[in-house]
Amino acid sequence: MNHLILGGTGTVGGAIVRGLLAKGEKVRVLTRSEEKAKALPQNVTAVVGDLTDPLTYDKIFKGSDTMVLIIANSITETFEGLSALHEAKKNGYKKIVYISVHNPEIGMHVAHIGAKVGIEQAIKESGLPYTILQPNNFYQNDFWFKDVILQYSIYPQPIGDVGISRVDVRDIADAAVNALITDDHLNKTYALVGPDAWSGRSTAELFSKLMGKEIKYGGHDMDAWYEQWRQWIPVWMAYEFRIMYELFQTKGLKATPAQLKETETVVGHAPRRYEDFVKEFLGK
Ligand SMILES: NC(=O)c1ccc[n+]([C@@H]2O[C@H](COP(=O)([O-])OP(=O)(O)OC[C@H]3O[C@@H](n4cnc5c(N)ncnc54)[C@H](OP(=O)(O)O)[C@@H]3O)[C@@H](O)[C@H]2O)c1
Repeated sequence: MNHLILGGTGTVGGAIVRGLLAKGEKVRVLTRSEEKAKALPQNVTAVVGDLTDPLTYDKIFKGSDTMVLIIANSITETFEGLSALHEAKKNGYKKIVYISVHNPEIGMHVAHIGAKVGIEQAIKESGLPYTILQPNNFYQNDFWFKDVILQYSIYPQPIGDVGISRVDVRDIADAAVNALITDDHLNKTYALVGPDAWSGRSTAELFSKLMGKEIKYGGHDMDAWYEQWRQWIPVWMAYEFRIMYELFQTKGLKATPAQLKETETVVGHAPRRYEDFVKEFLGK
């Protein structure tokens, strides 16, 4: 099998590429950037193209048998996801693994989550064999906040008090690899979650304990968050992330025991613990 990884230069896709290479699988990776194409491992076939440009689709989609569908958050997410699905079907792909989000039904009003509900539905109706993976908030998002945590002693991700069952990107990669190289997970949808639910305050307490000094939670003020973040990321992204964090603050995103079992089934082992991730993050 030759696997096409859309988003293969990103956080999740990169981990999936490493996992597939470790199993001796053939991998093609899409990137928009000639520079990133040159930096890929030698045994990866790089494909330079753009999911917003259908003139590059023949080059992207010909020559693979399976596809990992990762669509970056963007205003064109639905167009990119549905077009990739159409091209996979046209080119006779044998399997699609889609990276969605945990419990998407509760977040239909958040643009990137609503897009995923539509793409999931289209995948199920396409007739192509699929596995849908629904990961919670990634542990690795903390790398975005590293300077704020280390220099200002604040944990700034406004995830609220209810709790969210965050997950390690390496577990998502393990699940995707298992779904690609075996037929054990065909036409199934799995929540991908960590073993514990974390609130903003319990996260700050964990960092305080491991760093030996007080790390404060940044709090729930989404007006202040939006004013700050729209200066650093595109305003449409700050706008929709605000709505997502308001959802986390009101409803949380906690896994059920059944969802934790689902995770173990497809990942093939117990999910990695957040405490262990934070120790690695801090170099301990
Ligand atoms: N962060 C979380 O906590 C979380 C939780 C659940 C689900 N998710 C979902 O995970 C996905 C993001 O994964 P990630 O964090 O691994 O992404 P990422 O690190 O931001 O990487 C984005 C990838 O998308 C590619 N890309 C962007 N625009 C493209 C285009 N027009 N054509 C082709 N490729 C394009 C980039 O390739 P080049 O730059 O090389 O072109 C890169 O490989 C999103 O769908 C998000 O909603 C995230």
